[in-house]
Amino acid sequence: MSGSFPRTRMRRNRLSQWSRCLVAEATLCVTDLIWPVFVEEGQNVESQVPSMPEVSRYSLDLLIPKVKEAARLGIPAVALFPVVPEDLKTQDGKEAYNPNNLMCRAIQAIKQEVPEIGIIGDVALDPYTSHGQDGLVVDEKVINDETVEILCKQACMQAKAGVDMVAPSDMMDGRIAMIRDYLDMNDYKDTQILAYSAKYCSAFYGPFRDAVGSAGNLKGVGKETYQMNPANAKEALREIEMDINEGADVVMVKPGMPYLDIVRCAADNFNVPIFAYQVSGEYAMIKAASNNGWLDYDKVIIESLLAFKRAGATAILSYAAMDVARIIKQNG
Ligand code: PBG
Repeated sequence: MSGSFPRTRMRRNRLSQWSRCLVAEATLCVTDLIWPVFVEEGQNVESQVPSMPEVSRYSLDLLIPKVKEAARLGIPAVALFPVVPEDLKTQDGKEAYNPNNLMCRAIQAIKQEVPEIGIIGDVALDPYTSHGQDGLVVDEKVINDETVEILCKQACMQAKAGVDMVAPSDMMDGRIAMIRDYLDMNDYKDTQILAYSAKYCSAFYGPFRDAVGSAGNLKGVGKETYQMNPANAKEALREIEMDINEGADVVMVKPGMPYLDIVRCAADNFNVPIFAYQVSGEYAMIKAASNNGWLDYDKVIIESLLAFKRAGATAILSYAAMDVARIIKQNG
């Protein structure tokens, strides 16, 4: 039911700042943000990602102060992605469950130095495989069940290192139940699982693959046998439902802006927290256009993330999280 003009004038509620605030349906807060970060080997290393202007990969010693700053700004969690040296990448990606790998060392160091921030660990094989796929490859096929066994070990090693939340981002079938059981069996009952449930086979991941150095290894082969077809929405709901049944604490939709219809559907249909990921390509578009003077970065980045909240996302992963936290603080 809505009134009609002239008794109803929609502009009345918009006339002043205070009124616009009070009638706002969605808000974007610093506490909605998760900052994805790339960690690399070495000392005193900061290497910029060319396709993601102003995003860097940091060695651990430089990453710690950045994470401290994120915590100080009020960002609740970081999502860690490792840049694995080429000589540690193998056909079977076994470095993924080495208890002393870069990821586990980063988790331990952040837990020690910045205990108040949440740590989300990516669970997938692509940073560790020489072919860049998220699973084991046999006869040119990415095989499911054997991959899941490795993911269980990987998740367990991260839990042992102190990760708060494991985030399987590979889209293998049945992994959430297997990882949950494996964690429980090893007494990591309180380690949360963030399931990348509706992860689409998207070209918006391009800059991320440059950042972790898997783009070249993939050699043009896609991930469409496991990541979802961008044409499908109902299938996303099925994936989400299955992951909830398997024990996911939180589900994820990814990418974000091109898939906000899926976020909305998920929010309407399920009573679980829903995270959405503003992926590397989305960030790159906004940043590149802003650096060219074509978009107002501060305004566009806030608008883009507010759209996630309006669509029903509980929290948002964004490479712009630190910028956004500062912008929100400035605007009081
Ligand atoms: C792979 C993974 C990807 C991203 C996060 N984890 C890329 C892919 O599936 O190839 C993409 C993130 C982004 O683009 O920002 N497990």
